[in-house]
Amino acid sequence: MRRPLANVIVIGAQWGDEGKGKITDLLSKSADVVVRYQGGVNAGHTVVVEGQTFKLHLIPSGILYPDTECIIGSGTVIDPKVLIEELDQVEALGISTAKLMISQAAHVTMPYHRMIDKASEERRGSQKIGTTGRGIGPTYADKSERTGIRMIDLINPDRLKEQVHWTVNYKNVILEKLYNLSPLDAEAVVKEYLEYADRLRPHVIDASLNIYNAIQERRNILFEGAQGTLLDLDHGTYPYVTSSNPVAGGACVGTGIGPTMIDRVIGVAKAYTTRVGEGPFPTEAKDEVGELLGDRGAEFGTTTGRKRRCGWFDGVIGRYAVRINGMDCMAITKLDVLDELDEIKVCVAYDMEGERCEDFPSSSIQLAKCKPIYETLPGWQQSTVDCRTLEDLPKQALDYLRFLAELMNVPIAIVSLGASRDQTIVVEDPIHGPKRGLLYS
Ligand code: IMP
Repeated sequence: MRRPLANVIVIGAQWGDEGKGKITDLLSKSADVVVRYQGGVNAGHTVVVEGQTFKLHLIPSGILYPDTECIIGSGTVIDPKVLIEELDQVEALGISTAKLMISQAAHVTMPYHRMIDKASEERRGSQKIGTTGRGIGPTYADKSERTGIRMIDLINPDRLKEQVHWTVNYKNVILEKLYNLSPLDAEAVVKEYLEYADRLRPHVIDASLNIYNAIQERRNILFEGAQGTLLDLDHGTYPYVTSSNPVAGGACVGTGIGPTMIDRVIGVAKAYTTRVGEGPFPTEAKDEVGELLGDRGAEFGTTTGRKRRCGWFDGVIGRYAVRINGMDCMAITKLDVLDELDEIKVCVAYDMEGERCEDFPSSSIQLAKCKPIYETLPGWQQSTVDCRTLEDLPKQALDYLRFLAELMNVPIAIVSLGASRDQTIVVEDPIHGPKRGLLYS
């Protein structure tokens, strides 16, 4: 029997690295098409299937299912070299990549983008953002400046030559005069990118039309967000953000489909909080608790290997993410990381210069002044990695989850207790269920 139709967005509710890869992988089995809508190779999804670890940066994790189509949408930026390496990695595992499609409107990361990203971070000194150094910001900057090279240009050799010559001339002035770097050889760049184009050409399509047609054919679409709400260019902790829109609204802009076509928004948050790079982080634990979370949670960046900053769950952020994304339900990941703790703190509000603040401040300067107001809950001090139903969970763990659901006023539909597909409790079908989840169960 045909499933009821549902087009679903999965987004990160914190600063990225919430475990979206595992949740989208889990939900991909109900999807006919999985779509990435923003970001580039700054993202890193780790998916573990039958003991094998896959690290994906650009290719949606739906690629691991034989019948799932994958689309990289127009709101993404594509580093063709890294994408080709990823295609090779997936094909080496015997998985076909023929069902991967790339929007012709997506922008291409060029060598000067990576160089400028690193050089500008150095120049910023104490003002640095702590980017992944993958050229993401400069690629989006060129998109806004209207000097970008798109996939449709990449696959047209004459257009590529013309555009690369023009832009490399322009960027060389910046590289040499502003950053004291060696200029690029335009011909060498053309040669390198023509090779990438030959490999990627068969995958390039009009993604908006393709997704629209899939929706008309009543196929289920899963929109896979990268990074997280607080890294959103407009709604995150600016300027310590990425250069795209990871929030749910970004899915429409980044794919070219209308908002009325979205049925559900599912948020993903860790049972605690992490952040990579610079910027304010009210619940950061710069003590043994932070160390414990980092060690037990293996909190190192998938893309850069950097150690992530760790801290307690922040309910103010959670409420904000529920609001900004119009979230229907949430998946809480890595609950097992808290297993050893005798007590667990949850930030329920901020103290901003003596005033209680329940709403997330829209300025990073204000956020930096916020001190968390905590409530302390008892820990459970036993392993949860083998729990498969809510009844298997220790009472304190269940109480903790209920506390989070009530604090954020969102049903918790999924709880994840480890990296494997089976280390998961599905409280309520997040796509087709009646939106009750753990809040009301
Ligand atoms: P960019 O996206 O490389 O420009 O980096 C901007 C900020 O976003 C930095 O703080 C990065 O650490 C952060 N960031 C970018 N992508 C990710 C991600 O996938 N997970 C977590 N942080 C990220």
